[in-house]
Parts: sequence; structure tokens; C-alpha cells
Amino acid sequence: MKIAILAGDGIGPEIVAQAVRILEALKSDGLKFELEPGLLGGCAVDATGEPFPEATRRLVADADAVILGAVGGPQYDMLPRQLRPEQGLLGMRKMLCLFANLRPAVLYPELANASTLKPEIVAGLDILIVRELTGDIYFGEPRGIERRDGQRVGFNTMIYSEAEIGRIAHVAFRVARKRNRRVCSVDKMNVLECTQLWRDVVVETSKEYPDVELSHMLVDNAAMQLVRNPRQFDVIVTGNMFGDILSDEASMLTVGLTGSIGMLPSASLDGRNKGLYEPIHGSAPDIAGKDLANPLATILSAAMMLRYTFDQEAVAARIENAVKNVLAQGYRTEDIYEPGMKRVGTAEISDAVLANMCS
Ligand code: IPM
Ligand code: MG
Repeated sequence: MKIAILAGDGIGPEIVAQAVRILEALKSDGLKFELEPGLLGGCAVDATGEPFPEATRRLVADADAVILGAVGGPQYDMLPRQLRPEQGLLGMRKMLCLFANLRPAVLYPELANASTLKPEIVAGLDILIVRELTGDIYFGEPRGIERRDGQRVGFNTMIYSEAEIGRIAHVAFRVARKRNRRVCSVDKMNVLECTQLWRDVVVETSKEYPDVELSHMLVDNAAMQLVRNPRQFDVIVTGNMFGDILSDEASMLTVGLTGSIGMLPSASLDGRNKGLYEPIHGSAPDIAGKDLANPLATILSAAMMLRYTFDQEAVAARIENAVKNVLAQGYRTEDIYEPGMKRVGTAEISDAVLANMCS
């Protein structure tokens, strides 16, 4: 088994180093895999002039799984669009056909006070957002900014084929079977034809899953319901852009008050077993190199990799339980710190995870 390690930019290298420590520890326990580093994003632009260089394309094409830190930084915002770090990430998602993005939002009881919502609204929260990741307005053509009738116009194309909708719907129904068997499909069918097709195909696909309850919600209402009564949701399935927005919102339900999205992992899958695993947060250049970054989302992403790509449920659960214990023991990085807790840095909280994995 080969794992490509793409640390990326900003806090990426610091948090990925901690996930690597956890994986190395599992190696000495008998799990077999090779870790191979590569460049993606701004660091790749600096080194090679491209955000997704050829060597990285080969590395990720050969790997069974990819662990990514985060990409991007203000110094790259002035570059032409095709050279920006984000294009490296989007290019890799597309090249590897990683169409299914799983973003769990789980509330750790220890962090209930850190939510911007009242503890009784979020207690026990456990939502899985299934976001389509290689279609929609992100990739639709035509797109651009051009002059028409003496002024500039900007345009993008929201487009989905029924095959693209069907395959993500299947993923959502299948994961729902391992959870509470409820899928809520989010669209904007009252305005957008593209999402009318989305709804139709999701309904057609649902016929194969009579044991899973399907409901539909318009995206504006879904954004509201997520803060009004988030526990009504089990699995949410939606397109690329709505999923981008709703998953950031869902992350705030769990650790909002502190402003941290440092707890949430994600998996991007190709429908076979290959996957890209990354925290949902960004590269946080403002805190890079200060031993302030929270590595837990990246460590939890490595756990998702062990579950989905390598089918090692027990090992994945061992990491997740270690993270729970670390929180119960009061260890907190700056972003989730509350008075009375033990304030620790990036490496120190990972030491605690390792210690809990061994015990
Ligand atoms: C995400 C990010 C990316 C996206 C950006 C960095 C291109 O926001 O993974 O949610 O929009 O998909
Ligand atoms: Mg996003």
C-alpha cells in the first residue's frame, strides 16, 4: 500500500507531520505501507512553477491513497487563475475522479460549549454531508470573463449529467445504510433546471433503496435548518457548490464559538477504494509555524483513510477513540481552548493522541 503525502502550504506541513507520526506508529504495530512525499499547491508553484506538477501527478496516480494538509496563501492570490494553489487541488480531484466527498460533522460532547449554538441544540449531533466533487459549476463550461456590449460579463455553467447524479446518490444511500438510513437531498429545483434533474435522478435512484428514507430540501431552507435544528439530519447529499457552503456551515455547529474548523476530516473517493483525505480547513497562513495549529482534523482524516481505502475499521476506531480521550483529558490547542483546559501545541496534542493509542 502506497500513501502519497502532500503537506501543502501554511500550516499544512505541521499538521501532516503529526498525522505521519500516527501512521508511523501503526507501522511498528504491523500495518504495512509506504509514505511518499510530494508537492501540491503554493509550495509546488514555488518549486516548479505549477500547482500540480507532473511528478505529483505520477505519484498520486500510483498511490492507493493521498493525505493532504491544505493549500493556498495570500501571496498566490495575484497569480493567474491556472497557477493558483487551489487549481492544484481541483485538478487532482478531477484527475483521480474523486467524485464523492464525505464530510462528517460530529459533535464531541467535550466541545459542546464551543458551539455557537446552545448545547441542547447540538448535543449528539452526527451529520454526514456527501458532496459531489467533480462536477457542477466548479467545472462546467463555458466559463470566463469577457467583454460584451462594451462591458465585462462573468459567467459559469452549472451542469450535471444523470450519470454524475446517479453515482453520488448511490454513495449517499449506501453510507446511509451504515448509519440511520435517512438521506436528505439538497437542491434549488424551484429555480434551477440543473437541480430539477438532480432531484429527479435522486428519486429514481432511491427506488433501489426502499429501506432508506429520502427527503428533499431547498438549499436556502437547508442552510436555515442546519442552524435551527441540525439534529434532524443524518446524511445530506448535494452538489459541489451547495456542498462546499453547507459543509463549512455544518463545521461551525460543532466548534463554532472558538472559530475553529480544526476538528473536521474529509474523504474524497473515486467509487472504488482510492481516496484523498484532508482536513476541511484551510492553510491558515496567519498561524503557520507558531505551534498553534490543530492537527486533529488531519489525524482524523488519516483514520478515515484506514477505514475507507484500507478497510481497517478497528484501527480507524482506535485513532478516533484516542482523539476523544485526548479531549476528555482536557488537552486543547489554541483554537478550541476554553478556560480550565490544558493549552497545548501541535506536537504536544499529537503526543497525547499517541499515548492514548498505546494505552
Ligand atoms: C473545500 C475548499 C475548496 C473548494 C477550495 C480550496 C477550492 O473550499 O475543499 O471546501 O471550494 O472545494
Ligand atoms: Mg470549502
